Amino acid sequence: MTIFITGGAGFIGSNFILEWLKLNDEKIINIDNLTYSGNLSNLESVTQNKNYHFVRADICESVKLSQLFEEYNPRAIIHFAAESHVDRSIIGPSEFIHTNILGTFNLLEVVRKIFETGRLDKDFRFIHISTDEVYGSLSENEKPFTEKNQYCPNSPYSASKASSNHLARSYFETYKIPTIITNCSNNYGPYQFPEKLIPLVINNALERKEIPIYGDGKNIRDWLYVRDHCLAIMKVLELGNPGETYNIGGNNEIRNLDLVGQICEELDQLSPIDNFGGSKYFDLVNFVPDRPGHDRRYAIDSSKIKNNLNWEPLETFKSGMKKTISWYLDNLEWIANIRSGEYEKWIFKQYK
Ligand code: NAD
Ligand code: TYD
Repeated sequence: MTIFITGGAGFIGSNFILEWLKLNDEKIINIDNLTYSGNLSNLESVTQNKNYHFVRADICESVKLSQLFEEYNPRAIIHFAAESHVDRSIIGPSEFIHTNILGTFNLLEVVRKIFETGRLDKDFRFIHISTDEVYGSLSENEKPFTEKNQYCPNSPYSASKASSNHLARSYFETYKIPTIITNCSNNYGPYQFPEKLIPLVINNALERKEIPIYGDGKNIRDWLYVRDHCLAIMKVLELGNPGETYNIGGNNEIRNLDLVGQICEELDQLSPIDNFGGSKYFDLVNFVPDRPGHDRRYAIDSSKIKNNLNWEPLETFKSGMKKTISWYLDNLEWIANIRSGEYEKWIFKQYK
């Protein structure tokens, strides 16, 4: 049997592939067109694995995708590919509409056409990977998002993801394509592109650069260690019901400023600053203008996936952060390689 992954060279997709190949003896085809956030070096350790195969393709290319479906007849597609960074969506939303909405539509159409010929695997699943950001922002006292919350996206990124969720849902209702949606909270862990908060803080701290905090730093996110997200997706693939949505969260709500404080404390222990006037990493914090439309708080109620599919995160925030910081310290070369011209251009545009 074979499963397809889209966006497998990105942060969550590559963690998923590495974990999958450890736990399963089943072929995995990674379909990715390698945008700025796709990085094949994440998968270097498995390039020789007989169960791993990479295909460079855009999810908007119907002909190529249809050929791949004909060739492999996969039992599932796990759809990670997306433009994923909120700040980029504010500066340039059109890529988000193109990839996240039209790309997902295209994939669904490819699957529908094969489904209608009767050639799709009878247990086929289309797992659509999405985000808690589709639900919008919570105030401090509101209850965490359940699967029943209304969508209220506030950024072009979250609006494009909400739109793709609606499409995935509608293909189940209308055509009976067995789609399942997962909405997950903020992930952290190895191989995350350093435009996102946690790797950006670690990277800037190690380079003794300012650590930018948007607004008052009191925005709250719920953080989940990426391996726990991958294990949740495997549960959904195995046991999830077509047509349903599963919210996935880490039960780790924390204000941005406190999170940055924890990272700095951990770095003070693991890699103390010697030649920096006796200062600590936290002295690098710099408050910068807020992100437009900045959601105040996200929180996830994971009771459905816990009760129905028996999934719970294995890492605590403390253990997950420790692993993450150690990974970045042990893989300075990974970050150095990523810091391409494209990355530097982004940092200049966003923060200068
Ligand atoms: P990422 O930006 O690190 O990776 C995205 C991957 O998709 C890259 O490898 C890129 O090359 C590929 N890609 C982009 N456009 C493509 C196209 N047109 N065709 C083929 N491949 C394409 O993203 P991530 O953080 O790994 O997120 C993966 C998925 O999980 C996204 O759908 C995102 O919305 C969702 N998600 C992310 C988080 C998070 O905290 N990172 C949380 C919840 C949900
Ligand atoms: P991010 O990692 O971009 O994820 P998301 O916006 O999808 O939640 O940002 C996490 C939080 O950190 C968010 O509230 C914005 C904030 N943030 C900063 O304060 N400074 C930064 O430089 C970045 C990238 C994010």
